[in-house]
Amino acid sequence: MFFMYKYLFKPIFFQFQPEKAHYLTMQLFRFALSLPFGKAIFRQLFVLKNKKLERQILGLTFPNPIGLAAGFDKDGKYFEDMAFLGFGFIEIGTVTPRPQEGNPQPRLFRLPEYDALINRMGFNNEGVDKLVERLKNRKNTEGGVIIGGNIGKNKITPNEAAFRDYEICFDALFDHVDYFVVNVSSPNTPDLRALQDKEPLNQLLAHVQSLNQKRPQPKPLLLKIAPDLNTLQLDDILEIVENNKLDGIIATNTTISRELVKNHPLSKEAGGLSGKPVSEPSTDIIRYLRQHTKQKNLVIIGVGGIQTGDDALEKLAAGANLVQIYTGLIYEGPSMVKKINQTILKNLSIER
Ligand code: FNR
Repeated sequence: MFFMYKYLFKPIFFQFQPEKAHYLTMQLFRFALSLPFGKAIFRQLFVLKNKKLERQILGLTFPNPIGLAAGFDKDGKYFEDMAFLGFGFIEIGTVTPRPQEGNPQPRLFRLPEYDALINRMGFNNEGVDKLVERLKNRKNTEGGVIIGGNIGKNKITPNEAAFRDYEICFDALFDHVDYFVVNVSSPNTPDLRALQDKEPLNQLLAHVQSLNQKRPQPKPLLLKIAPDLNTLQLDDILEIVENNKLDGIIATNTTISRELVKNHPLSKEAGGLSGKPVSEPSTDIIRYLRQHTKQKNLVIIGVGGIQTGDDALEKLAAGANLVQIYTGLIYEGPSMVKKINQTILKNLSIER
């Protein structure tokens, strides 16, 4: 299957503009699933069921520790299909209160020499109401896959009023997702990352957590951070996360650094760089967070440049409880989730 993707599908998909290829791939995938025995075949090929892969984390049962990172399914259109690729969890979003188009195309670029992407999508999404409609209509997601909701703010909302946008998304999604992620780390919404600064972050997280704690059964709440933070900033973030009793941190989003791809002709494109070049910076951040947190049960979801089982093991060994992938899927194809899970099964002792 790996060879079929690498030598047949990928060369075809890579003929198209990346965003178009994404759309075409998903249409083709959906069609394949709808064929007689389609679901059974995909389940057989890609889903690895094993009790030893299960993780009890955040009060939830994850069928396995590999997740689909935010941004792939911003509008909740694909999560039921993607569950047939063997993911243990799928993070939907980033969603904003109102629909928005995002940045003009082209806004997604491949750097195949580095197994990387640069994107400046800009939270293109259909708005939280449409997402809720789709989640309401969902059937039993294949294999008990956990669904996360990644929430953000609209481009036109000033940072002073951002808390309202997060509140609207949080309230709307509350009954439909298993955990929440406050995203303040995408580089493509002007000034969004200023919300990672100490005071605004504290206010925002205090606000979302207070909404959460008013509910009879609060949901796990995590913060997603950028890889471009220094250790002083990481210390502040840990303090704020701990003071506000968040459950965890997702490390990391894409990077604005071009240090590792500076010779590539597309390196000057604005946006966030993902894939291989972000692997080490994100692992370093995971390690730092794990070593410096005072919160023993702080959950860390590691993401950035995972392509192989060894990449995933590296993140787990650095202190992640779970991992996510996005760019690796584009370069390695659908069989990678199962392969990573197989590697994890062989190396269970490495995990926390
Ligand atoms: C992303 N990512 C992302 N993250 C997020 O929190 N909200 C989002 O809307 C998006 N959108 C998005 C679009 C595209 C095209 C890419 C490539 C990435 C970031 C993603 O979830 C992940 O954190 C990084 O890409 C690093 O992981 P990988 O891609 O190196 O595995």
